[in-house]
Amino acid sequence: MGAERSGTATRPSRRGLLIAGAASGLGAVAALGIESLADSASPPGASEPLHGQETIPFYGSHQAGIATAPQAYAAYIALTLRDEVDRDSVQRLLRILTDDAARLTQGREALADTEPELAHLPARLTVTFGFGSRIAKLAGASTSEVKPLPEFGIDRLEQRWCDGDLLLHIAADDRLTVSHAQRMLLKDARSFATVKWTQAGFRRARGSEASSTTMRNLFGQIDGTSNLAPGTQEFNQLVWNKDSSTTMVLRRIRMNLETWDELDRPAREFSVGRTLDNGAPLTGALEHDEPDFRRLTVNGFAVIGDQAHIRRARSENPEERIYRRAYNYDEPPTGENISDSGLIFVSYQKSVAKQYVPLQQRLDQLDALNQWTTPIGSAVFLIPPGCQEHGFIGDTYFTA
Ligand code: HEM
Repeated sequence: MGAERSGTATRPSRRGLLIAGAASGLGAVAALGIESLADSASPPGASEPLHGQETIPFYGSHQAGIATAPQAYAAYIALTLRDEVDRDSVQRLLRILTDDAARLTQGREALADTEPELAHLPARLTVTFGFGSRIAKLAGASTSEVKPLPEFGIDRLEQRWCDGDLLLHIAADDRLTVSHAQRMLLKDARSFATVKWTQAGFRRARGSEASSTTMRNLFGQIDGTSNLAPGTQEFNQLVWNKDSSTTMVLRRIRMNLETWDELDRPAREFSVGRTLDNGAPLTGALEHDEPDFRRLTVNGFAVIGDQAHIRRARSENPEERIYRRAYNYDEPPTGENISDSGLIFVSYQKSVAKQYVPLQQRLDQLDALNQWTTPIGSAVFLIPPGCQEHGFIGDTYFTA
């Protein structure tokens, strides 16, 4: 260890030198030619762009964490209310959790925070609450949209990834911040509810690439190109209800990386209808070029095939669009497997029945991607409006 063989001579490895440098202090580091450390006069971190102090406002008409530019890490946690929880106690729970979220997202510790230092770098922390049908009912909100999706032929749902009474969606650019917020919220929820499932998601780390870059999933695809854009009129019309609520569909979709690996590049691109390189449609050159679904090859075949995911996912009815805001998941592989990965597919729309379901039905009937993807979890939540200071999430329902 610590040495690389080069011909017959033995010379120290780069790793060995770095370890030696660290052990013997800056002198050794300078000797290695790493000048930035040796001759830096400014305090550590002075010239680095730091994002830890950035905050996203908590209060507002809409909850944060939906139109917010996606953070690098997300945790989705579904809770089951204890049997005895009634309308009054669920209000108490929501008041407590709202207070925690309002503090933590602004870099302030929660009440009785046992690790207050961990609260001081919010890194764009958002906490978004979702109500399953039981809380929606207790609150007196409409439950017409908050029910399990119809069954689809492609589904292989496992109950351990389905449904839930209360969703906590916690996201930040710093994984430690997410963990701390998760622990504080769960501590306060403990006497009211138990954890049904948690799903940890991630995207590229903040600062690895320009923040406007469309995310990549673990198939290597650029995922999210043709999407509603927060802040636009279309987004406002198709995502937010009049009372500033929305609905969320969360699907845990396993991606079989092993069988995907067996495909060559053209077949991978054909399955979606876009290139892997820059996400351009197969009929275009740039990511945001409009796909030409009528274009034929010289042999008369559709360039974007009949089963291509983007052809099947696009509706002729513009009212059927949804806002997709997915995260990757990647669990530790076990046994013979070398990956347990997929997509935490999340979409927001005014109406699950009118926007999400027709789209999912089309993909269920035909979509080349179905060969490599399997939905194993499914949940639908009402996302209540945001709240004002001194209020709590869901208060408009309880006081109506
Ligand atoms: C693991 C599962 C999935 C993967 C890997 C995947 C991947 C992709 C990719 C690579 C694109 C093209 C780039 C883009 O426009 O974003 C795309 C587009 C799209 N996907 Fe998916 N997707 C998955 C599941 C779903 C599901 C479950 C839905 C909805 C039910 C969906 C709806 C859409 C829509 C609406 C588009 C845009 C189509 C267009 O108008 O061009 N996808 N997806």
